Amino acid sequence: MNSSISTAVILAAGLGTRMKSSTPKVLHEVCGLPLISHILEAVAQVGAERTVVVLGPGHERVRPVLPEGVEVALQLEPRGTGDALLKAAAFLEDGPALVVPGDTPLITGEVLRDLVGHHVETGAQATILTMILENPGGYGRVVRDETGAVTRIVEQRDATPEELEIREVNSGMYVLPGRRSLGLLEEVGSDNEQGEVYLTDVVEGLVAAGAKVEAVAAPDPSVTLGVNTRVDLARVAALMRGRILNRWMLEGVTIDDPSSTYVDVSVELEADVRILPGTTLSGATVVGRDSVIGPATTLIDTAVGRGSRVRHAYAEGASIGDGVQVGPFCYLRPGARLERGSKAGTFVEIKNSTVGEGSKVPHLSYIGDTTIGRETNIGAGNITANYDGRRKHRTVIGDGVHTGSDTVFVAPVTIGDKAVTGAGSIITKNVPEAGLGIARCRQKNIEGYADRRGVEPGEDSEHGAK
Ligand code: UD1
Ligand code: CA
Repeated sequence: MNSSISTAVILAAGLGTRMKSSTPKVLHEVCGLPLISHILEAVAQVGAERTVVVLGPGHERVRPVLPEGVEVALQLEPRGTGDALLKAAAFLEDGPALVVPGDTPLITGEVLRDLVGHHVETGAQATILTMILENPGGYGRVVRDETGAVTRIVEQRDATPEELEIREVNSGMYVLPGRRSLGLLEEVGSDNEQGEVYLTDVVEGLVAAGAKVEAVAAPDPSVTLGVNTRVDLARVAALMRGRILNRWMLEGVTIDDPSSTYVDVSVELEADVRILPGTTLSGATVVGRDSVIGPATTLIDTAVGRGSRVRHAYAEGASIGDGVQVGPFCYLRPGARLERGSKAGTFVEIKNSTVGEGSKVPHLSYIGDTTIGRETNIGAGNITANYDGRRKHRTVIGDGVHTGSDTVFVAPVTIGDKAVTGAGSIITKNVPEAGLGIARCRQKNIEGYADRRGVEPGEDSEHGAK
């Protein structure tokens, strides 16, 4: 991409004290991605020649989430936003720098491109992205002279009562002249209420030197909303969630109740997917055309094919093919693979196992470390005993098999194609193709048992349940 921006600088060295967290603020997640990742994604759309993130204490934890090519400058003591830019000096050129805070995840590439476009068109030395707020409390106010030209930015704590009335505020995003800003920051010092070097003082310095400074308001103040507290985090997440859901609805996905539907930015959906209430889709989840997900379903890093039905289910790292039925009340764990037309039904848990085409595990079963072939039916309440206390073992069940209710497979064990197991069997040996495996005590009936004990049937009988 050909951009007029030499360096994009993301200021992310602040301590984030108000988050009251042991995790650096920029690593807190919104819709499945850390704050900093959302910003890097928007900034990437500006196509700056280089991108640098200014990090503070905890930088070792932030580095791994930075994409390749993004550079790091360190500001280990938070001496203000201006000092943060000074710490990135080695990465700045004479050309314009785009400066963005690390905690405004709703910013979009489009808004940043428009800011840069405005800067280029007006030939300004600096352009400030502003917001017009009903309640400007907390933000730096953009002061203009009688002609409307920007003269300076004043922080809330340093402002006069008249300045506090100003509703146009600094979003903390700017295009600034790279090296020239550094020179000005070295002069401004930290003579303010916080004793910090304020990046905003660059504006006053430029104006004093006769340079033109522009300010352009964001189309919607929510795109520059910052996260300072966890209350902000929730507010920003709600806005981003709405944005993601609107995008999918416009792409042809039906979302019955957006207020109870959570879809991460990383999720991919095809047209004519329908999402029912109480559903969360996260990570690398993908859902194919005509599948219906929910209600009350969580899919994490799970692929669902086309025309499948997933109800009241929790799946992580699973792969659900085309035309598959899942749930209600089904738990799919990593490596669960349900092939075309198969079923994992009610109160079924499946882990690291393949259920072949057209095969069904309809009720009350645990299937772990198992390969099930095609067109096989697993009876109610089957268990694969895959763990001997030390190691996991596999169960292999062939094609066209019918297992009786309450069969336990003590792995490792193999059941041949078309074989059958008797209800209640504990299968410890392989069952040959088309054979019957039955392993249970024979039933013995005792005639006249109740009469002999002198009890009424149903009272204190052998079964004992009351
Ligand atoms: C800043 C602006 C204010 C603007 C507001 C928008 C200044 C002096 N004020 O205020 O005009 O309205 O943003 O949200 O710039 N940071 C560092 N190192 C530091 C201090 C901050 O990297 O020493 C980073 C923070 O991590 C954050 C960003 O800079 O991402 C903004 O810092 P913050 O303390 O939130 O700025 P405000 O005081 O809110
Ligand atoms: Ca501050």
